[in-house]
Amino acid sequence: MRVHVADHPLITHKLTVLRDRATPSPTFRALAEELVTLLAYEATRDVHVVEVPVTTPVAETTGLAIATPRPLVVPILRAGLGMLEGMVKLLPTAEVGFLGMVRNEETLQPDIYAERLPDDLSDRQCFVLDPMLATGGSLIAAIDYLLARGAKDVTAVCLLAAPEGLKAVEEATAGREVTVVLGAVDSHLDENGFIVPGLGDAGDRLYGVV
Ligand code: PRP
Repeated sequence: MRVHVADHPLITHKLTVLRDRATPSPTFRALAEELVTLLAYEATRDVHVVEVPVTTPVAETTGLAIATPRPLVVPILRAGLGMLEGMVKLLPTAEVGFLGMVRNEETLQPDIYAERLPDDLSDRQCFVLDPMLATGGSLIAAIDYLLARGAKDVTAVCLLAAPEGLKAVEEATAGREVTVVLGAVDSHLDENGFIVPGLGDAGDRLYGVV
């Protein structure tokens, strides 16, 4: 597994405002979107491209275009939805599939409650969006699901991770084509499975308490 942790003052600045408990939902949503766009630049570094001819006003030359099959962006509902617009802004030709997952707050085990994805993911590059990588259970389940459907590789974009969850994802995906791009790796998980210092419950902060 490849891990890339953003190292940029603009990203840390925006993350700092996200972490602040006083930041209201509208600002939180706008910042989450901006952060994803910045992380998407790194996450798409290995996006498949093909050479294409292009005629400029001056000469003929060769450029690059995103290859087919088109990349698939998969936000994990709910909180990953807050990252979708920021991602497709940078990758407008991508298709979008949805996975609804909820983490049982007692067992911390993930449960898939909704799925809307193309049947065949053969040769697809998939970009999974989920702001929080806590125990890693949700991301491992999502990656397993996509690879089992034939996805070529999976790149996860997360705003924050706990070291415990990152290690779990690394162990669970050993030998497979997985990349994780992160805004930051925090200190640890608390006894309730929350990232510390973290930013609280991203889904609740984006969309309200359920
Ligand atoms: C949160 C978060 C991740 C998951 C992370 O979702 O958005 O999907 O928990 O935890 P894990 O790494 O321990 O699996 P939550 O279950 O709160 O659902 P929500 O997005 O609908 O609020």
